[in-house]
Amino acid sequence: MELISIIAFVLISIITAAYIYFKNAFNYWKSRGIPFEEPIIPYGSVKGLNKTIHTSDITKRIYDKFKGTAKYCGVYLMAAPIAMILDLDLVKHILVKDFSNFSDKGFYSNEEDDPLSANLFTLDGDKWKKLRAKLTPTFTSGKMKIMFSHVVEVGERFNDCLRGIVQENNEVEIKDLLARFTTDVIGTCAFGIECNSLKDPNAGFKNMGEKAFRPRYPSLIQFLVIGMKNVSRRFHVKIMPDDVSEFFLRMVYNTVKYREKNDVHRNDFMDILIKLKNDKNALEGLTLNEIAAQAFLFFLAGFETSSTTLMFCLYELSKNPDIQSKARKVVQEAYEKHGTFTYEMMMDMPYIDHILQETLRRYPPVPFVSRIAKNDYNVPETSNIIEKGTIIVIPTYAIQNDPEYYPDPERFDPDRFAADIARERDTMTWLPFSEGPRNCVGLRFGMMQARTGLAILLNNFEFTLNSKTIEPLSYIPDCFVLNPKGGVHLNLIPIKSK
Ligand code: HEM
Ligand SMILES: *[C@@H]1O[C@H](CO)[C@@H](O)[C@H](O)[C@H]1NC(C)=O
Ligand SMILES: *[C@@H]1O[C@H](CO)[C@@H](O)[C@H](O)[C@H]1NC(C)=O
Ligand SMILES: *[C@@H]1O[C@H](CO)[C@@H](O)[C@H](O)[C@H]1NC(C)=O
Repeated sequence: MELISIIAFVLISIITAAYIYFKNAFNYWKSRGIPFEEPIIPYGSVKGLNKTIHTSDITKRIYDKFKGTAKYCGVYLMAAPIAMILDLDLVKHILVKDFSNFSDKGFYSNEEDDPLSANLFTLDGDKWKKLRAKLTPTFTSGKMKIMFSHVVEVGERFNDCLRGIVQENNEVEIKDLLARFTTDVIGTCAFGIECNSLKDPNAGFKNMGEKAFRPRYPSLIQFLVIGMKNVSRRFHVKIMPDDVSEFFLRMVYNTVKYREKNDVHRNDFMDILIKLKNDKNALEGLTLNEIAAQAFLFFLAGFETSSTTLMFCLYELSKNPDIQSKARKVVQEAYEKHGTFTYEMMMDMPYIDHILQETLRRYPPVPFVSRIAKNDYNVPETSNIIEKGTIIVIPTYAIQNDPEYYPDPERFDPDRFAADIARERDTMTWLPFSEGPRNCVGLRFGMMQARTGLAILLNNFEFTLNSKTIEPLSYIPDCFVLNPKGGVHLNLIPIKSK
């Protein structure tokens, strides 16, 4: 009896304490006079944590509700206050003009126990700044030109492979196939190996890549880890699954050893990273683990975002045959003009770029950008202060599907990006790669890969939508990128290529 009352007492105390804690925390936005999305215990305002809706839909719902009432609104992620930015001018301040106040993201990394977690995407502060400065020269257009031949080579192999598949059955689920293409491109360029997921769909590379995206812990534990970074590091908490970590570390060690021993140069990311490691002039080069972490990040950041872009692009081209034939004509004329697929030819197809820009507008693979306030920040033209440590969310998906900036936003219309029309729009209305000093460092590479893939596909196939595609598209909730339920099924009809 005694024991039971003690347990009951303890339980009731814990529940009461938690209740008071949440009630207090949920006072945050109200007491500051900021409009906010009503929270519930314990989810906060993000009720989609019950895993039925995708973050893009949640952010859009909140954005649509509060836009126009204030420059930003308040949201709670469990008990943590988040400022969702609604005003383009404030977006520009955060990403570009007052970047120094918002250069951090507040992710968890653990360099010692989990070397892959300490990469450009997750690092903050001085470490991020130094690494970004070292890696930026990796992505110049000169370097892209050098890597271009690898991309075309994989593209041609992808095309051969597709022709083979289509000969047997011309109904294909395109997302998986495209992921094999982008996996092989980035595998070739970042690790200098032929991963061959085109031939063997279960190749280790792609599997490991997909596994790295799956969270290691349930969301509650992840919040705790991020909320108590120093404690988590003390307890050696890792984020990457062990087998993923081992796979990539071993691969990079072996590649670097092989290349250094045999003096192999392949004009790829790995080459540049090894040069950085051995740079005697730099104050501090890269360590082997740092090379592995960056190559791993390039792979993760590159394969899923780019294949998703191509998938949505083909989906829209299937639904808009006029745009598809116009695009094909542009590609065929470029082939005729340039003879073979050169870098110059790729840059000579503006309509292909408009199609990709419109795809990235309608379906940004990364649906929001996040930052963390480094110090108390005076919101321009107001008396409000965004306090140090507040998480900032810039709702890319919602902004890019806002009818004020893009009339009839669900309509796929590449002409929105024709130079004279695009010039009229605020630059902050198109943020698939984000903006400012911490934008996507791989933008040029991502675009190069997408242009190449799309041009080769248009030159070899006609696409129509297969009825197995579930419309309207809805997104798998616990997937960070936009990923349609049931996949995208197309009919591919081979045509004579130029
Ligand atoms: C269509 C393709 C891609 C899209 C839509 C995309 C989008 C993004 C976005 C939204 C960010 C966050 C920026 C921010 O927080 O402000 C980002 C960061 C990053 N991306 Fe990409 N990305 C793509 C392809 C790539 C590729 C191919 C690579 C590498 C080869 C890459 C490497 C990176 C890296 C390293 C960062 C972290 C940059 C930093 O924090 O300094 N991305 N990307
Ligand atoms: C999840 O949340 C949504 C929106 O609040 C709601 O419509 C749905 O019924 C919830 N699902 C479950 C399983 O609780
Ligand atoms: C975590 O550790 C770092 C350096 O070890 C320190 O600068 C920082 O203040 C610590 N943060 C907290 C919340 O204790
Ligand atoms: C940005 O941070 C600096 C300190 O690093 C501070 O002096 C400045 O006032 C901040 N800007 C705003 C607009 O709050």
